[in-house]
Amino acid sequence: MRHNILAVVGSPRKNGNTHILVSKILEGAGAEGARGDIIFLADVAIRECDGCHACWKGTECSKNDDMNRLYPKIIASDGIVFGTPVYWYGPTALMKGFVDRFVYFNCPEHRVKIRGKPAVLAVPFEEEDPQTAALLRAFFEKSLRYLEMNLIGTLLVPGVSEKGDILEKADRLKEAYDLGRRLVRL
Ligand SMILES: Cc1cc2nc3c(=O)[nH]c(=O)nc-3n(C[C@H](O)[C@H](O)[C@H](O)COP(=O)(O)O)c2cc1C
Repeated sequence: MRHNILAVVGSPRKNGNTHILVSKILEGAGAEGARGDIIFLADVAIRECDGCHACWKGTECSKNDDMNRLYPKIIASDGIVFGTPVYWYGPTALMKGFVDRFVYFNCPEHRVKIRGKPAVLAVPFEEEDPQTAALLRAFFEKSLRYLEMNLIGTLLVPGVSEKGDILEKADRLKEAYDLGRRLVRL
């Protein structure tokens, strides 16, 4: 069975460090026979979750936006790559808004659609101190654990600021490639 990986880029910068990192993960996944789709959150309209819980009551999300067509892609995927740079010690607003909408999976009927799904997290940021990403990392670890997903790896890449800086970090790109392979080999 060919694996189907969904990669989500939370940076608004195309060809930026997150995009490059996520592409490298997909390249590794591809080497194991998987196909990957990239969703640029900046290209889709995802509104805020306001906790109406329509999604728990068997009706579509009342926001009626692009997330309603992303849910089936998330559910159909064999693994998810979450890619976001650090913005003020957290994820980008685009990524936070996307994860907020995972409330959909927080009812028994929908939980089964995501339970055990493997995921990886990829995070570039400017500062050199790895602690810069500590809150962001905890946000994903706690949220995905709560959702009973399986976060199999996190790749933090400090010291990248300008678009494409990450291309200078061959060792980190190799780690990204290997992480992609691991995501599929699971
Ligand atoms: C609004 C904003 C907030 C940021 N906050 C931080 C931060 O708190 N710490 C940090 O190390 N880098 C911060 N950065 C820098 C980005 O994390 C860094 O430039 C990253 O490589 C951008 O990834 P991208 O090329 O995928 O957009 C911030 C950048 C922006 C635009």
